Amino acid sequence: MDGRDLVRSMKAVGSAGAAQGLRTVRAAWRTRRADASALPSRGAEHARVPGPVQEVETAPGGGIVRFARSELRIMVAVNGAVFWGWDGAGPEPSYALAGRCPEPDPRTALEPDKEGGWRVVAERVTVAVSRHGAVEVRTPGGVTLRRDLPPRWWEPVGGGTARWMQRSEVAADARFFGLGGRASGPRMRDGTYRMWNTDPGHAFGPGDDPLYITMPVQLVVADAATHLVFRDTSWRGTVTLREGEEGAGSGHDRAGTSELRMEGGPLRCWVVVGTPARVLLVWASLTGAPALPPTWALGHHHARWGFGSEQEVRRIVSGYQERGLPLDAVHLDIDHYDEHQVFTVDQERFPKLPLLADELRQDGVRLVSIVDPAVKAAEGNAVYDSGTARNAFVRDAAGRLVRGVVWPGETVFPDFTDPRVREWWGRLYEERLDQGFSGFWHDMNEPTSFAAFGEPTLPLSARHALEGRGGDHREAHNVYALCMARAAYEGLRELVPEERPFVFSRSGWVGMQRYGGTWSGDVATGWPGLRASLSLVLGLGLCGVPYSGPDVGGFDGTPSPELYLRWFQLGAYLPLFRTHASLRAGRREPWEFGAEVLEHARVALVERRRLLPYFVTLAHLARRTGAPYVRPLWWSAPEDRALRDCEDAFLLGDCLLVAPVLDPGADRRAVQLPRGRWYDTVTERAYEGPGQVLLDAPLSRIPVLARAGCVIPVRGDGGGLELEVWAPARGRTGGGLVVPDAGEGWDEPELERYVTRWRGQRLVVEREGEGGTGAPPHPVQVRGLDGG
Ligand code: NOJ
Repeated sequence: MDGRDLVRSMKAVGSAGAAQGLRTVRAAWRTRRADASALPSRGAEHARVPGPVQEVETAPGGGIVRFARSELRIMVAVNGAVFWGWDGAGPEPSYALAGRCPEPDPRTALEPDKEGGWRVVAERVTVAVSRHGAVEVRTPGGVTLRRDLPPRWWEPVGGGTARWMQRSEVAADARFFGLGGRASGPRMRDGTYRMWNTDPGHAFGPGDDPLYITMPVQLVVADAATHLVFRDTSWRGTVTLREGEEGAGSGHDRAGTSELRMEGGPLRCWVVVGTPARVLLVWASLTGAPALPPTWALGHHHARWGFGSEQEVRRIVSGYQERGLPLDAVHLDIDHYDEHQVFTVDQERFPKLPLLADELRQDGVRLVSIVDPAVKAAEGNAVYDSGTARNAFVRDAAGRLVRGVVWPGETVFPDFTDPRVREWWGRLYEERLDQGFSGFWHDMNEPTSFAAFGEPTLPLSARHALEGRGGDHREAHNVYALCMARAAYEGLRELVPEERPFVFSRSGWVGMQRYGGTWSGDVATGWPGLRASLSLVLGLGLCGVPYSGPDVGGFDGTPSPELYLRWFQLGAYLPLFRTHASLRAGRREPWEFGAEVLEHARVALVERRRLLPYFVTLAHLARRTGAPYVRPLWWSAPEDRALRDCEDAFLLGDCLLVAPVLDPGADRRAVQLPRGRWYDTVTERAYEGPGQVLLDAPLSRIPVLARAGCVIPVRGDGGGLELEVWAPARGRTGGGLVVPDAGEGWDEPELERYVTRWRGQRLVVEREGEGGTGAPPHPVQVRGLDGG
């Protein structure tokens, strides 16, 4: 125990109640003891590199290159994705992949190259393997996008899990994005980032890393092309990034580098090359299409830890209704549980929950329930008893139940990496449905177990099924929440087959979008927290998880009215628009910050509701194409370096550019525009990009610009779908896609395609169909006609 640990353990004892504090001390000692006896201590190791090439075996899409001390399997898939695995590793088994691994591209295979190495030349990418095992990914034009140097392994002398290291070089101009949900991005600066899903244990800001969702996924954006690289291993590790430097024409560029060190797991990798849109399309085909949230989940949510009672929930909902403020969902946190036990209800404070849920539903408000994985270890607790009967809980190497500490006190943890356990857990949502809940908010699933010292999670030596392969927590930790989300999603599909499930989860891993979304977790109230909120949403979107959003107003403390409002205005344009705060935090209702804030918050809420059909369209497009709703400004122009470095604005789909105010006291802000004409959506004034403009950002609004020519589906005053069309520049055309809302089920609405063009002095908007173009089936409002 070091000094910091000691302080933590004293705090634990002092604050969370003496009994709970003592439990966390005991739990920490238990973990330490379990790991000391069960984990192999790192003694002498053999270092190994692949050595020289010896023979090559070709196969469709690539083949196998045998080196003196390892072999490399390479496959370019039909969709252009490249896979390679060392030491014979194949793409499966994998928690990331959505289904079957894509077929190899039969048109290509390994062939000798001029330098004495081997290469695979495919339509969209060339992969070259040097004689000593460096792997280069090149564009079809021959530009090198990345060079992975020969890896290095360290194997314990007595046998056991090898750790490994892989160093890669990228172009000097390349920028790194991704790595899951990081607070300090979206552009990942030089530094070392841990791959280990972590509850920071306090409200976090940009300096806190890692957080709840880490992923060994990087999006590398460079002049020559964008590529995504994914190291498919869930083990703990680090990535050290260093951006390159250009030698200003001197020819002395310094490459960017990325160094990955993993404590175990296969050394295997996927690379996808192309435009950002293509990369995300292929990524979604590999790791799964993002689940489509029900339409109500694209509205406004209000949550709070500490609602306390049915009366309090009714008071909040009436507060919204009386003021005419749109509200679509209310979330109940752990305080509605009976003594913090998952899948229970405190009957004293919430005696008629199904009735409340029903009434709220009639008013268009859904109830969402928090779901924690940890189960109170107490006989008589139905979930504990049924889980025990099925041997559902994680055990240690000696076969004893692993006990941790979470809100209900001493707890046990379901092993979600076991299909049997997932099935059992999935059925438990029936109780939630009977209580009237429509959506599920997974929390504490890193998994978190409070510890007075050491890591606040399960012992590394804890045993997991890992789909029957068996292994320990070092491998299972990062996929624990992913598997919990799968359990819920699959359970809900069985329980309510006619409705799309709504699950969002604090922690997760590659592929979590298949089951739902996520949120920021406990982002600190303060201007840096506001900035971190945007970083998280953008970064996760680039890793394939498009649905997320922050705790509007921040999790702790009390935001100033200005900060609250600016957060609210940003949140209104993010996929998950939810106010939430801690038990001990100040109020977060829009009317708690004075009349002026209330009026401006109302504008944001009303605008969000008006844009609902656009959010529905973006959700469908995310599912069909993998493109996140919230995209960095460089999305369509990654070669524009000024955009690559711009982190304070984003594109919402193809149509809107949102420039939130992220600093106090601002009433104007600079906005970096991509190429083309952009209209300020309030003044309708036109601006020409590329370049920087200074825009008004009074307290009443943040700048939002519409791309000239775009077609935005909006909700008309009567509730019907209307098209808001922003005039293309003279002589130019435009257009857009609309996916009408098909309700809560699984119907696939038909995609509507619109074109906008000038015919003489008249702007024409038409729907394109198989039989030619025709009049749009929805009312059209044209805007921006005078702006240019
Ligand atoms: C931690 C979550 O991040 C937070 O949103 C929630 O309010 C608390 N747990 C209590 O459940």
